[in-house]
Amino acid sequence: MAERKDDRLWGGRFERAPNELFDAFQNSFAFDCRFLPYEIAVDRAWAQALQRAGILTEGEVTQTLAALDKIAQRAERDPMWLADSAAEDVHHFIEKALVEELGPVGWKLHTGRSRNELVATDFRLFIKDAVADSRDSLIALIHTCLEQAKSNLGLPMAGMTHMQHAQPILLSHFLLAHAEAFSRDLARLQSAAVSADACPMGSGALAGCSFAIDRNAIARDLGFSRITPNSLDAVSDRDFALDYLFAISGIATHLSRLAEDFVLFASQEFSYVILPDEYSTGSSLMPQKKNPDSWELLRGKTGRITAALFSLFTTLKGLPTSYQRDLQEDKEALFAAHDQINQMLIVATGALGKSKCREDRLRAAAGNPALVATDAADYLVRRGIPFRQAHDLVGKVLREAEQQGVPWPQLSLQELQKLSPQIDKGFLESPSIENAINSKNVPGGTAENSVRAAIAQLEQKLAQLEKQP
Ligand code: ARG
Repeated sequence: MAERKDDRLWGGRFERAPNELFDAFQNSFAFDCRFLPYEIAVDRAWAQALQRAGILTEGEVTQTLAALDKIAQRAERDPMWLADSAAEDVHHFIEKALVEELGPVGWKLHTGRSRNELVATDFRLFIKDAVADSRDSLIALIHTCLEQAKSNLGLPMAGMTHMQHAQPILLSHFLLAHAEAFSRDLARLQSAAVSADACPMGSGALAGCSFAIDRNAIARDLGFSRITPNSLDAVSDRDFALDYLFAISGIATHLSRLAEDFVLFASQEFSYVILPDEYSTGSSLMPQKKNPDSWELLRGKTGRITAALFSLFTTLKGLPTSYQRDLQEDKEALFAAHDQINQMLIVATGALGKSKCREDRLRAAAGNPALVATDAADYLVRRGIPFRQAHDLVGKVLREAEQQGVPWPQLSLQELQKLSPQIDKGFLESPSIENAINSKNVPGGTAENSVRAAIAQLEQKLAQLEKQP
């Protein structure tokens, strides 16, 4: 066995060692050490594949598997072992550790394979687990939306467009709107796991593998449902990471919208919700303050998640086909975004679950008679008046009420009939908030029956999604 002048994975053709600063600059172990458990799983599958291909003996595989177990155990109990290592990346770290354990047998495992496929395989395994983590947290959040919707069923609120009072709706309808958005995110997360679920091993550096390894067997051993179809594409492709980042960017964007609603609703002007102490903070100066920091931070941290998506798009733009070292930049932002989105989901679930609604304030705002103006026009439409004319007439009624400084239902029938003889007594009686809400009884509408049906449907959909592996 020829002597090796250093323990690098690629030293043979070099005369001089790398520049010290450049060496640190190109090192990725500080962050790709997170792939260690995945790399070990891939190494195990590869050792067995090499045995089936006649490259490693049964004895060598037994030794290799035992050494890999030892490495995994030590890495878990001794984080300083990783922190102090001079390894270039996770692939180098494990090879060095294997050689320390086994001597030259440790150098055999890299037969027929490349770090380019290893890093893609590790990353796909990581994303599959990442999806599973985020998925559980997201399901918990949707359940919390549903619980709040169920416990507040019947409570009206002033629905708004352009931040102006529009029509009365049920608070539960508003909560379900958020739950629906999050359930679409759930579907997108699951499709990111499907993208990641293909095994690149056997792709080599770019061209494939010249040893008779069984790619399907390796994929099966690693829990992948399929193999990647083209070796060159397999080392170039990071679409699965984009899909994951897109899915969590959707979650973050929807969280920021929920957060914005709650920041407003907790303000003195709205006072629709009472902020839970557990998810609020105070002021160092103003003793009375209770600030919605949980929601503000959720809104603020969304920037990091979408930034990670744009960062990866920017790295990928214009790269030539095949592995390029630029691709090493695909991991750090994604890891950080993953850690952040899970915390965000847990905090949002806690803050939402513990929020209390102020029935008096919600009812007072929903009781503004201007909110049922559309229903008053609908009343006239049912009496045979064309909608545009009815709209105009109700507009005139509202203007008259505004001029008199009274809510429009306080105008007398005589005053109303001066505006139009088509107005009758029923016009003043029909549009209560309850009628206005319960008349929206189409599927997907805000009537209590429709909302009950929507809750049941979403619960069913969630139960089905939860059953999927
Ligand atoms: N550390 C690299 C990455 O994260 C993987 C190693 C591939 N390096 C190489 N020189 N081909 O992408």
